Amino acid sequence: MSREVVVVGSANADLVVEVPRRPAGGETLLGGDLRLLPGGKGANQAAAAARCGADTGFLACVGDDSNGAFLRGRLSDAGVDTSSLIEVDRPTGTAIILLTPDGENSIVVSPGANRELDVELAERHADAWSGAGVLVLSLEIPERTVLHVAARAAAGGTRVVLNAAPATRIAPETLRLCDPLVVNEHEALAALGDDVQDPDGFSTEDYARLATSLRAAGARSVVITLGAEGAIVADGGAATPTHVAAHRVRVTDTTGAGDAFVGAVACELSRGAGLVDAVRFATAVSAVSVQRIGAQTSYADRAEVEAFIAAGPA
Ligand code: RIB
Repeated sequence: MSREVVVVGSANADLVVEVPRRPAGGETLLGGDLRLLPGGKGANQAAAAARCGADTGFLACVGDDSNGAFLRGRLSDAGVDTSSLIEVDRPTGTAIILLTPDGENSIVVSPGANRELDVELAERHADAWSGAGVLVLSLEIPERTVLHVAARAAAGGTRVVLNAAPATRIAPETLRLCDPLVVNEHEALAALGDDVQDPDGFSTEDYARLATSLRAAGARSVVITLGAEGAIVADGGAATPTHVAAHRVRVTDTTGAGDAFVGAVACELSRGAGLVDAVRFATAVSAVSVQRIGAQTSYADRAEVEAFIAAGPA
């Protein structure tokens, strides 16, 4: 079936604890009550695209356990078609998330079932993703699957959006399929194979140069997200990258804000928006999401995002 947006990616149960600060090695810290929230980069992106209004499918693996059932239910509530959520004989992916008072987090992911989404399984379920308008991929599933699905989908005319997270070097053959490659500051450096440089102190001009380098390395278009500084967009149409400013909001929890951004970009592109306009809309989606706790639990639907944009700066 051909859908506006299809995500092939991960689904995790997020176990979130608020802590006063990050614990040091060997230290025990008392935190707040444990929250079980729906997460996983792929699932978050699918939920965001669906909440923005896209007809969205999702191919992923979960375990035959209560977390798998929980994630299926929450995705369905968000409007995602969960008929391609495959049950495998491994525990559902889990993310342990420590949330500090500044809204930042530290995350450890136990991929579990997500590791089972190999090329053979993706190929067996090719009807779920082939023919999609926009395909969204990220890197919490095996990298070989990402490259295989991206290449097959792009050859069939699908637009491929790769969110290269968690950070890693991206092979040139994968880079050439990305339209756009979406990365944050650290992922942008890692994608080029330069994970030694610390982006602290980089200016928006430095990121514009980085985006141009990623295009020169093969990506058809590039978006570098800069948190409170907005995003840099480099696409085929413009000679120099464009800086899109972020909305100024009070940050409660940044978990999943990048995934909300990616899902919103995919939704807008599937409806014919240009990349810069898609990024403008997506910055509003992220700005709403960072004001609430959790990933999928913080995503607004389209009407709320449009009201936020219309209200203008606080
Ligand atoms: O990007 C945020 C996500 O990263 C969380 O939902 C967690 O599951 C990890 O995958």
